[in-house]
Amino acid sequence: MIDKILIFPSTELFLGNQLLKTDKLLELCGNQKVVLVADAAIKDLYAVALAKKLRANLLTIPSGEKTKNWDTAQTLIDQLFQVGCGRDTLLIALGGGVTTDLVGFVASIYMRSLPFISIPTTLLAMVDAAIGGKTAINTPYGKNLIGTMYPPQAIFVDFDVLQTLPAKEWLNGLAEILKMGLIRDGSLWEMAQKNGESSAMILQAILGKMQVIEQDPMEQGLRRILNFGHTIGHALEAVSLYKMPHGQAVALGCLVEAHLSLQLNYLAKEDFDSILAMYKKFALTLPKTYTRSHLLQAMAHDKKRAFGQIRFVLIDQIGHAIPFDGAYCRSVSPNELESTLDWMEQWK
Ligand code: GLY
Repeated sequence: MIDKILIFPSTELFLGNQLLKTDKLLELCGNQKVVLVADAAIKDLYAVALAKKLRANLLTIPSGEKTKNWDTAQTLIDQLFQVGCGRDTLLIALGGGVTTDLVGFVASIYMRSLPFISIPTTLLAMVDAAIGGKTAINTPYGKNLIGTMYPPQAIFVDFDVLQTLPAKEWLNGLAEILKMGLIRDGSLWEMAQKNGESSAMILQAILGKMQVIEQDPMEQGLRRILNFGHTIGHALEAVSLYKMPHGQAVALGCLVEAHLSLQLNYLAKEDFDSILAMYKKFALTLPKTYTRSHLLQAMAHDKKRAFGQIRFVLIDQIGHAIPFDGAYCRSVSPNELESTLDWMEQWK
């Protein structure tokens, strides 16, 4: 059942239960050639049946962050040539953020772009990765450093697929919902504190993100707020050689960047204490491979860097990222960062 259809200039968003069982996707496929690319872990669960319904070629990619690289993109491109895809082929991604990022990337470059639809199947992808048109692959220099801005023509968020989501995946998505609560939506933070109804929180987080994206699709200012927690978070993932789950890295990243906001006298202690209490639900452990110099080296490739300085998104209250004259981030010197890193290292 389609509960909601939200039409934004960049993307049509379908939300509901049993959405994949409706004929909407089939309708959008029309008479185009369709290739469905799915995470191998959900091949039997959803992909085979969906490919059959859509009369699509089915390709799978291995699960996990390590898959999101040039080699997999190249393999996928070769497979698209082998099955005879042209510019009129519709590419559909079915899976978590790794799948939607990687397939979106391939869709944006294959023959200079193919029509693309995204079906996120994890909470993380529903509330963050699949929303907003960023595509990406990782490189040895860091996470998501290569990619394009390529919004899918449609996104299907089927709440039912969450029923089969492993418990640890919930925390990955929750970390992004909490981030949205911290940077923009205090009421979402309160809902999370009260263990609010999950589909209401998902919807609110998606709407919040879409509103940001529509105002600043190319990340010239406001969209940077979505990187809160990710300067530290992405660096921790790189330090862990991508063994640390994204949600855990972002949760620790948000907490540490909230501490930095406190340290720089923007955030009140009372707000920080409430943030700390929330994040204690997560396993706050630094990767075994953590060293400060490795972290700083990984942060040196952060995409918000400007003029050789690392820049952070900071908050001045729960639900509000600081605008900093429209830059929505500010440079932080190694000295300013030091005491926050000292504080973070208690989770070694
Ligand atoms: N995940 C951050 C963004 O979409 O901008």
